[in-house]
Amino acid sequence: MGKPFFFLILLCFFPSHPASAQHYNALFNFGDSLSDTGNVVLAGLPYGMTYFGHHTGRCSDGRLVIDFIAEGIGLPHLPPSTANNTNFHRGANFAFIAAPALPFDFFHQRGLSHGLHVNASIHEQIDQFQKLLPSICGSPQDCKDFLSKSLLVVGEFGGNDYNTGLFGGWSITKVTSFVPHVTRVVADGIETVKLKFIIDGQRLIGLGAVDLIVPSVLPVGCFPLYLTLSDSSDPAEYGPRTGCLRKFNALAWYHNADLRRQLDQLRKKYPAVSIRYADFYAQIFDFVTDPLKYGFKAGALRTCCGAPGMSKYNFNLEAKCDQNGSTVCSDISAHVSWDGIHMTETAHRIIARGWLSGPYVNPPILSSPAS
Ligand SMILES: *[C@@H]1O[C@H](CO)[C@@H](O)[C@H](O)[C@H]1NC(C)=O
Ligand SMILES: *[C@@H]1O[C@H](CO)[C@@H](O)[C@H](O)[C@H]1NC(C)=O
Ligand SMILES: *[C@@H]1O[C@H](CO)[C@@H](O)[C@H](O)[C@H]1NC(C)=O
Repeated sequence: MGKPFFFLILLCFFPSHPASAQHYNALFNFGDSLSDTGNVVLAGLPYGMTYFGHHTGRCSDGRLVIDFIAEGIGLPHLPPSTANNTNFHRGANFAFIAAPALPFDFFHQRGLSHGLHVNASIHEQIDQFQKLLPSICGSPQDCKDFLSKSLLVVGEFGGNDYNTGLFGGWSITKVTSFVPHVTRVVADGIETVKLKFIIDGQRLIGLGAVDLIVPSVLPVGCFPLYLTLSDSSDPAEYGPRTGCLRKFNALAWYHNADLRRQLDQLRKKYPAVSIRYADFYAQIFDFVTDPLKYGFKAGALRTCCGAPGMSKYNFNLEAKCDQNGSTVCSDISAHVSWDGIHMTETAHRIIARGWLSGPYVNPPILSSPAS
């Protein structure tokens, strides 16, 4: 079989039917603590208590969105890419807790690198992916074939970039200036070469990826950590319907709008590649405006695993989830927030459903083939 045959297959199955690729042979994930399944193991129980019975590195009481995506497409939970003696033929997870999108140098130049905890920016994660590929699928051409049947989830990225600025004492206005850099580096990661990367080859589309999901950042102004640390007596700082801090959500909203613009450009440039936006933001915003619709009887702004004493959100910086003084609520599934920063397994399950079956990924991951 020569090249023309292969080309025909590509044309027949991928460009016009991106959604038909629901028989995925593998799933690959890049990201931060929202999707790390064990590259960084920092805490102990009660993390993991609901599903795994022990701490796996996941920042939740149980499974993450990426675990439910794997289950939904019939693949095993992803092994962390640093796992030893592991077979990655069904996928791997390159996400690291605390990973920013941007590289060390970006923060170093701005005097903020002391706030970085890992060197695992998006390009470093993709470098690891590229290094691992030959052991998974062999030659570059074989890997292109392999990746043409794989789903890649790229993100969420950005949350830690903004945190590094905010917790480094920068104003939100100054931190907002990071946005075009963050979304650009995500788009570069999805796409191909920038000068620096010509030497080590190409990025995800260049490697053969044809089906990518790119999650938005979260409305962090609705998360107990931010609500507690930026507590304000000025009601104008809060959304009247949500009780969320507007300035943080405005930053997230701006990032997401810019990310969508980048993705539109990539789609125009690569019409044969499916690049779908996954709207974390809208789903979580809906949790906050209508928590009872989802069974979140405790509302969306209260931490399950935390402690009182610092704020009305049950979040206390001196007694975080696996620290002394913190307790686990008796009704975990009535909460959106697990530890004030990350969500409960229940919230993750609902979010994943919105990606697998719609409406927060469009077309949904499990949609029937377009014709
Ligand atoms: C894999 O092995 C190395 C060397 O023994 C160790 O440092 C690393 O923590 C192991 N990885 C995991 C995920 O356990
Ligand atoms: C990341 O890399 C830089 C140099 O490239 C180094 O100075 C820094 O200590 C590293 N940070 C971590 C957390 O390993
Ligand atoms: C937490 O409490 C235990 C038992 O009371 C004690 O041994 C431990 O040192 C405490 N840890 C911290 C970080 O305070």
